[in-house]
Amino acid sequence: TSLALSATLLSAQAFAELTIGFSQIGAESAWRSAETESIKSEAEKRGYTLKFSDAQQKQENQIKAIRSFIAQGVDGIILAPVVETGWDRVLKEAKAADIPVVLVDRGIKVKDNDLYLSKIASDFVFEGKLAGAWLAQETNGYANIVELQGGPGAAPAIDRKAGFGQMVEQFPGMEITASQTGEWTRTKGKEVMEAFLKAQGEEIDAVYAHNDDMALGAIQAIKEFGLMPGKDILVVSIDGVKAAFQAMVDGELNATVDCNPLLGPLAFDALEMAFNGKDVDKWIVQKDKINVQQDAAEMIDSRMF
Ligand code: AHR
Repeated sequence: TSLALSATLLSAQAFAELTIGFSQIGAESAWRSAETESIKSEAEKRGYTLKFSDAQQKQENQIKAIRSFIAQGVDGIILAPVVETGWDRVLKEAKAADIPVVLVDRGIKVKDNDLYLSKIASDFVFEGKLAGAWLAQETNGYANIVELQGGPGAAPAIDRKAGFGQMVEQFPGMEITASQTGEWTRTKGKEVMEAFLKAQGEEIDAVYAHNDDMALGAIQAIKEFGLMPGKDILVVSIDGVKAAFQAMVDGELNATVDCNPLLGPLAFDALEMAFNGKDVDKWIVQKDKINVQQDAAEMIDSRMF
């Protein structure tokens, strides 16, 4: 045991001298800020030097950051990819430099999956299905739904739309009457919901938002329109941030699907396995469930983000 312990201590010490580059998308939602915090604090806890780069929602900035990490000779890269496509070339450069890349929270589409070490993320299609199943049950399969999509080209926007669509198409009485991007933010979510309300008014039975921030913006728009969110118009979203739990306690949000942003420990575990020459699962799936208004008061204090 003491031999094993000193080996562990030795490798912990060796890892402590390593530098990791983290290319983050931005700070569009409370969920993403929680993820940034999780990765920064885990790096600090384990003694890594973390080079952090905020891409301000632009893939070109992420590509530049990755190239600069490679030029600086980092030991590993953590990437939260803003969109699904367009990563082949830069990831080939990382691979040629022998730098393992861990994807956090979102997937990508590349010709060769060996270009990255592992993806640590939820199953977004399943999340969309959970939201759709909840709404079908709540409305007995009859609802005019408006949808606030995430950022164009992002894996969670594509997959949450697909999963929800697959579920509601089973019910002839359910229809998505409008669907537009709210770019993951409260401001844009509110703006798009205002336009939906202007066009469809009280015909709208439910809002499906791809994240909580957009749902919270939509709730504001519904109130300003003179209707009651959570009652006149049902609201279901994804993320499970504390502000969403507060909105459920207030009776304005009906349900939110969990999505785990606290990926720091898993990301560093994956990198350390690679440093030790061990195999890492290609997709480390985060399991999610749906949280409903009735349970929110009891759950809110235990929410971590
Ligand atoms: O990739 C996860 C999504 O990105 C979260 O649902 C959203 O809030 C975020 O910005």
